[in-house]
Amino acid sequence: MSHHSDLAVVVLAFTVGWCLCAADVGDFAPCLQVFYKSWPPKGLSGTPICQHYYNQYRFATLYSRPRRSPWFSAYLYSVPQGKRPSASWKFEPQLAYPRADGNMIPFPPGPLDQNVVDSQAVELDYINSTYSRGHLNPSLHHQSHEDRSATFTLTNVVPQKAGSNDGPWEDLEQAVNKTLGAYCLGDSYIVTGIIPYLKDERWIKNHRVAVPEYMWSAYCCPNYNSSLPEELKGLFPTYAAVGRNDRNSTEEIVPVSQTAKKRFRGYDVRQMPLETLEMYLKDRFNTVVSVFYEKCSGSD
Ligand SMILES: *[C@@H]1O[C@H](CO)[C@@H](O)[C@H](O)[C@H]1NC(C)=O
Ligand SMILES: *[C@@H]1O[C@H](CO)[C@@H](O)[C@H](O)[C@H]1NC(C)=O
Ligand SMILES: *[C@@H]1O[C@H](CO)[C@@H](O)[C@H](O)[C@H]1NC(C)=O
Ligand SMILES: *[C@@H]1O[C@H](CO)[C@@H](O)[C@H](O)[C@H]1NC(C)=O
Repeated sequence: MSHHSDLAVVVLAFTVGWCLCAADVGDFAPCLQVFYKSWPPKGLSGTPICQHYYNQYRFATLYSRPRRSPWFSAYLYSVPQGKRPSASWKFEPQLAYPRADGNMIPFPPGPLDQNVVDSQAVELDYINSTYSRGHLNPSLHHQSHEDRSATFTLTNVVPQKAGSNDGPWEDLEQAVNKTLGAYCLGDSYIVTGIIPYLKDERWIKNHRVAVPEYMWSAYCCPNYNSSLPEELKGLFPTYAAVGRNDRNSTEEIVPVSQTAKKRFRGYDVRQMPLETLEMYLKDRFNTVVSVFYEKCSGSD
């Protein structure tokens, strides 16, 4: 190895190391509080983003640069208040410029910097595609206006069929809100992610943004009200779900109900124990994926 390439490695290491601290890309350390026991899910790799808005950490995302969409977002649930904020979509300057300040910023009205376009999904990717912008961390699960607004970053979004987004997946988000809002007594940790196609990945806009075959979600509420109504028994401290994002998928993971409204048919969500979700994740990712520390079995 030449002296020159040694030097290059040192310079690169220094630059990257320095930039991580400045821009909150590449490390979950500053936002570990959004994970149960400060333990990010294991088994998936990507670019960690501590989602930063108005100078506060709001949630965390494991982003895939090649897919220009997230593997998962993780957040603390809080009982929502007020109306859904108007959608002001934002991007992450630090994905394009490592030294940028870590706050997400709204897309400007005019043409975009090419480095931003190259580094992440932009609004044009979704406009006139056959996919809606599916939040992983939904604004519905947050109390403060800033926490809700912060979910409108395209790094928290995947291409989701409207029949899922406005139908069964939204019903799941509502059901989780009601369950946690009423019976979780302490913190609720939620992780929501995607399952890619096994082969033949789908993309929107000329190979720019990868489409997931399924979405999944799991919560962990270690401290809950043990006087649960009959229908919620078994849903604490942890439960999970997988939703279809493609009507044509086979039915091994999530069966299709023939009685759903036509618009929503084929976009079913199946609720399931965390262990079952992790089994499907292991199958598809070909590695053990652990969503919560000790499967959320801890005593606090
Ligand atoms: C989206 O499609 C509409 C109707 O075909 C068209 O008028 C509009 O210019 C398109 N927008 C973009 C950004 O491509
Ligand atoms: C969310 O859950 C809370 C607590 O259970 C409930 O009061 C509220 O109506 C729910 N919000 C929505 C939008 O469903
Ligand atoms: C637990 O739930 C029961 C109803 O199922 C309710 O009466 C009680 O107040 C709740 N306890 C707490 C601590 O919220
Ligand atoms: C599902 O299959 C139908 C018929 O083969 C096809 O027209 C449609 O594009 C497929 N949908 C997706 C999301 O691949």
